[in-house]
Amino acid sequence: MDDFRYLHGSLYCESVAVQDIARAVGTPTYVYSGATLESHFTKLRDAFAPLSPLLCYSVKCCSNLAILKRLAQLGAGMDVVSGGEIFRACAAGADPRHFVYAGVGKSDAEIRLALEHGIGLFNVESEMEFENLSRLAHETGTPARAALRVNPDVDPKTHRHTTTGKRESKFGVDLERAVAFFHAYGRDPHIALRGIHLHIGSPVYSTAPYLQSVVKALALIDDLARAGFPVDTLDLGGGFGADYESDQTPLATEYANAIVPLLCDRVARGLRIILEPGRTIAANAGILLTKVEYVKRSGDRTFAICDAGMNTLLRPSHYDAFHFVWPAEVDVSLVPPRRAREIILPGLQRTEVVGPLCETGDFLAQDRMLPPLDRGDLLAVYSAGAYGMTMASRYNSHPLPTEVLVEGSTFRVIRERESYSDLIQHERA
Ligand code: LLP
Repeated sequence: MDDFRYLHGSLYCESVAVQDIARAVGTPTYVYSGATLESHFTKLRDAFAPLSPLLCYSVKCCSNLAILKRLAQLGAGMDVVSGGEIFRACAAGADPRHFVYAGVGKSDAEIRLALEHGIGLFNVESEMEFENLSRLAHETGTPARAALRVNPDVDPKTHRHTTTGKRESKFGVDLERAVAFFHAYGRDPHIALRGIHLHIGSPVYSTAPYLQSVVKALALIDDLARAGFPVDTLDLGGGFGADYESDQTPLATEYANAIVPLLCDRVARGLRIILEPGRTIAANAGILLTKVEYVKRSGDRTFAICDAGMNTLLRPSHYDAFHFVWPAEVDVSLVPPRRAREIILPGLQRTEVVGPLCETGDFLAQDRMLPPLDRGDLLAVYSAGAYGMTMASRYNSHPLPTEVLVEGSTFRVIRERESYSDLIQHERA
């Protein structure tokens, strides 16, 4: 599943004890495993090999330059959603011809930047956006390719904040509007509209919603062909799960076994498949290291107050997301047998793991059975590689944390901890 393991009671990332990282760079710190990133990427690539898809890593989930560079070197394209992400992915050396660009609110400046870089595919989300894109392509003399993002109206059975493919979503256009969309724009002189894009939500822990949406997308592609609009690209978006708990998510091969048979003969007839995986690659490739500042009792509850909070990792408070938390150094009898909501071991104590912010909603883990904690203990918050650092903020004027990349027995800082001067550098008194 990943390269974070206990050895004699010490948590290691690959061959580096995370305690050594904390000692060297302090906390809070995001620690990523290069080997895990690579193995998650290659497992997906191998599982979907019969379709030879373009795997566009979803930059929004973990966008550090070193991470993007490593994935680009493995052959990943990039799924980008803003000018900033285009800038970043280019700075990391990724090839813009392998970028797909989604987002409901692309500004003129962002579209111009994307056109300038010659990105591979615009995933267009509305009629007005298409018209604007065509206008800018014409003005700048840079023709481009586009796919229409459709809502297959499939329930991905995930959190309402990350459900995207339902009819009432702000993303894409309803499936029924797609044919009319192609009639209106399918022969545009500046933008070649030749693709269909969908992204049903994330994380999606079963294959059924993918099956349903692929079936609907193929029916649409057939309707479009009959109407004289050949589609050559199907972008299925992202959303594959991650193991926030041990063995929670289907394997890459299980998603592939469900999806590949539906698409094989289409691919043989020239359809190009794109996938936009994010979380399934990065989530378990990263942990957040945080130090316990204080332990206190309030009423009948025990609080471990840490130096990381919702400013560092927003997911628990924003989505009620479960992240497994455990001390990085424990007695061997307290090494967790698996990552799960309920761990049964002797001597555990019900604990609230909270951050330093002035917010009651500032927590990392609620109501957890944990080994008794003390001031200075180092905690690992697991599965924090996706939507961790990228959603971090400076709330309460806490500088952003350090990011570290481990490769084998070495580690290096891939983002320096911010200083107090960084906090105010763009402000003018
Ligand atoms: N493609 C599109 C068009 C997307 O909107 C997303 C994610 C992805 C791909 C990548 O999805 P993934 O494979 O990573 O599940 N902040 C939330 C997740 C928001 C996802 C937004 N879109 C979280 O922390 O769970």
